[in-house]
Amino acid sequence: NNYVLIMAGGVGSRFWPKSRNTYPKQFLDILGIGKSLLQLTYDRFLKIVPAENIYIVTNSQYSDIIVNQLKGISLEQLICEPSRNNTAPCIAYASFKLNSINPDANIVVAPSDHFILHEDIFTKKVTQALNYTENHNVLVTLGISPTRPDTGYGYIKYDTAAEEGIHKVIRFTEKPSLAKAKEFLQAGDYLWNAGIFIWKVSAILKGLKDHAEAIYTLFQSGNEVYNTSDEQSFINENYPKSPNISIDYAIMEQADNVYTIPADFGWSDLGTWASLYESAPRNDDNNVLSAKQLHIKDTSNSIIHINNDKLAIIRGLDNYIVVDEGNALLIYPKDQEQEIKEVVREMSITF
Ligand code: GDD
Ligand code: MG
Repeated sequence: NNYVLIMAGGVGSRFWPKSRNTYPKQFLDILGIGKSLLQLTYDRFLKIVPAENIYIVTNSQYSDIIVNQLKGISLEQLICEPSRNNTAPCIAYASFKLNSINPDANIVVAPSDHFILHEDIFTKKVTQALNYTENHNVLVTLGISPTRPDTGYGYIKYDTAAEEGIHKVIRFTEKPSLAKAKEFLQAGDYLWNAGIFIWKVSAILKGLKDHAEAIYTLFQSGNEVYNTSDEQSFINENYPKSPNISIDYAIMEQADNVYTIPADFGWSDLGTWASLYESAPRNDDNNVLSAKQLHIKDTSNSIIHINNDKLAIIRGLDNYIVVDEGNALLIYPKDQEQEIKEVVREMSITF
């Protein structure tokens, strides 16, 4: 009864200009190891569930890329969204669909764009969670020990006492202010939400019904058509009507049956330039450099990524991001990188 649902429909805009609308981060070989983040994610789950139980939910714009990258995947395992409405409707649609395939489905919902170093620990923690959710009506999320007051994550205040290694979540706060993030980091009983969720399909449908009624009702109204020839036209017509909200705000912050498993498996979200910087090798001045021809002086704590044959000369930068990629150039203060997402959206950069 175990299934995996990989979400691969985001645009990774905080990672612009490497991540583009037409070819987002999850499809790139960000780490330069010969596989995209999506391929790494898929391979990780092959050790946990049979290949035919892995589903990918994405924007229909990316279906060709996915079929090319994941050789074992069949079209039935690809769930396509006609518009971009964030992860709550994406999960709602996929959950109704999986529910009609197997109402006993026990599901891992995972992002497609993370890096995980210790795969054996990952496998162990996910399996532990699946064993628990199999017979409990709970929403489980994997928690990572925070290392910096990053405002791009969900923060989980958890009960440090545990039964079977599963901790009750006291409060879930998605993307807090910097002041709050600092406070949470100091408090010591907070984890980062890894964005990897484990639940029975019945538990998430109940969560949606209780806390995201509009989304629940919309997708429930198609209950008869999932996995029939009428599904696509129902979805094309109705999916775009869904509220645009992430699962974190819609459900995780609201529900009172949320549990967490602290799971330190060498996780990196690779969500932004600075989070990539965390795990990359640095030079003596604390710079992460990737460029063919670079002359650099008096520069520290910066990320320089020149992905072409240009000669770059850089002097006197501290704590900056410089990215030259394709037809775009980004120069941005590293500690304000969360804004990049907003700027990219305001400029409606669609390439
Ligand atoms: N199919 C589909 N459709 N996938 C989507 C959509 C969508 O509309 N929007 C985002 N995704 C995918 C992304 O590709 C990514 O794999 C995953 O869903 C999470 O979306 P992000 O946009 O990357 O979320 P986030 O990083 O801001 O925040 C989430 O992840 C953090 C950890 O990385 C939250 O769950 C946070 O609480 C968490 O800390
Ligand atoms: Mg992310």
